[in-house]
Parts: sequence; C-alpha cells; structure tokens
Amino acid sequence: MHSRLTHLMRSAALASLLAAAPAWADSYKGPTPPAVYTQECGSCHLAFPPNLLPKASWQRVMNGLDKHYGSDASLDAATQKQIDTWLQTHGGQGKRALEEPPQDRITRSAWFGRKHREVSAATFKRAAIKSPANCTACHRDAAQGDFEDDRVRIPK
Ligand code: HEC
Ligand code: HEC
Repeated sequence: MHSRLTHLMRSAALASLLAAAPAWADSYKGPTPPAVYTQECGSCHLAFPPNLLPKASWQRVMNGLDKHYGSDASLDAATQKQIDTWLQTHGGQGKRALEEPPQDRITRSAWFGRKHREVSAATFKRAAIKSPANCTACHRDAAQGDFEDDRVRIPK
C-alpha cells in the first residue's frame, strides 16, 4: 500500500516534469529567439541556443559583458535586462544544461567534447576556423539549429 502510493506519487511527479519540459529542451536548436537576442548576441558568433548552458552560466556571461572573452560586448541596461530575462527563462533546460562548463563555455562542456572527439585541436585552430566556438565555420546552417553530421564541412 505504502509503496504503491509512493510509486503513484513518483509517476505523477515524473509526468508533471515531462509535461513541463518544452519540446526544444533537448534539441540543438532551442526556442525561437527574440530579434534582440539574434542581433546583439549573434553578431560576433552564433546566437547560441539557451538550452546549451545552465542558468548560472548565462548569469555570469550576462554580468561580465564588458570583459567578454577578451571582447567588449556591453549593452545598454534595458537591452541587457531583456536578454538576461530571456536567457534565465529558457536557459538551463534540457540534458546539455546540467553542468556548468569551465569559463561558461559551451565548447568546454562534456557533450561538446564527445561530439567533437574526432576534431583535433590543430583543426580547430585553422585560419578558416580559429576556434571551436566558431560553429558556423563547419556547420553552415548552425543559425537554423542544423548540426546534422552529414552536412558538416570542415574548411581546409
Ligand atoms: C563584440 C563581439 C561579441 C558580442 C556582441 C558577443 N560576443 Fe559572445 N563571444 C565573443 C568572443 C570573441 C568570444 C570567444 C570566442 C572564442 O573563444 O573563439 C565569445 C564567446 C561567447 C560564449 C562562449 C562560447 C564557447 O562556448 O566557447 C558565450 C556563451 C557567449 N559568447 C555568449 C554571448 C552572449 C549571450 C552575447 C550577447 C549578450 C554575446 N556573446 C555577444 C564576442 C562577442
Ligand atoms: C572544426 C569544425 C567544427 C566546429 C568549429 C564545430 N563543429 Fe560541431 N561537429 C563537427 C564535426 C566534424 C562533428 C561530428 C560529425 C560526425 O560525427 O560525423 C560535429 C558534430 C556536432 C554535433 C553533433 C551532431 C549530431 O547529429 O550528433 C553538434 C550538436 C555540434 N557539432 C555542435 C557544434 C556547436 C554548437 C559548435 C560551436 C559552439 C560546433 N559544433 C563547432 C565539426 C565542428
């Protein structure tokens, strides 16, 4: 009786968790971003999907935009707040947002390492690529959330 009740309660909790997880949570595409995100966070690199980092990582990234990986990516207060709120709403959802990777880099997370196990450090440094963070160098349609392995082209 007791264990059956516990089981029922667990199933109910699980069901509500599943219902709460948005369809995009485990995808590489993420939710459709507002224009402000694509414009302000997609001008120097891919506007990274928010579900690829946990909320705490996004928070640190947004709190340090004046010293952003060697760049100044500062925004006016209103725009910063708008993007921050969006990232705190949609970040941290799905299986790739469970760990806080070093330097809050998607490219330092375990899943990224596994998926790119066959790409050498030297390849990532090629002139046409420069960095693992330059997703679109190899995944041409990354901005559309397309990372299909049969469409990967590594520039020479
Ligand atoms: C002025 C250019 C610029 C703008 C604007 C910019 N970034 Fe960046 N961002 C960079 C650079 C440079 C790096 C480091 C890339 C590298 O290591 O190759 C970076 C790296 C990142 C990384 C880590 C990538 C990784 O996994 O290695 C995240 C996350 C990130 N940016 C988020 C944002 C967000 C969110 C915004 C908008 C608020 C933003 N960026 C706007 C220049 C910019
Ligand atoms: C040097 C080229 C290169 C760069 C830069 C690169 N990737 Fe990849 N990516 C690859 C290769 C090669 C594979 C593995 C394809 C295979 O398994 O056949 C891959 C696989 C993936 C996969 C797995 C796709 C699948 O169907 O399993 C994802 C997701 C992905 N990359 C995301 C990213 C993201 C996000 C970035 C930028 C933060 C990035 N990649 C940067 C080359 C690159």
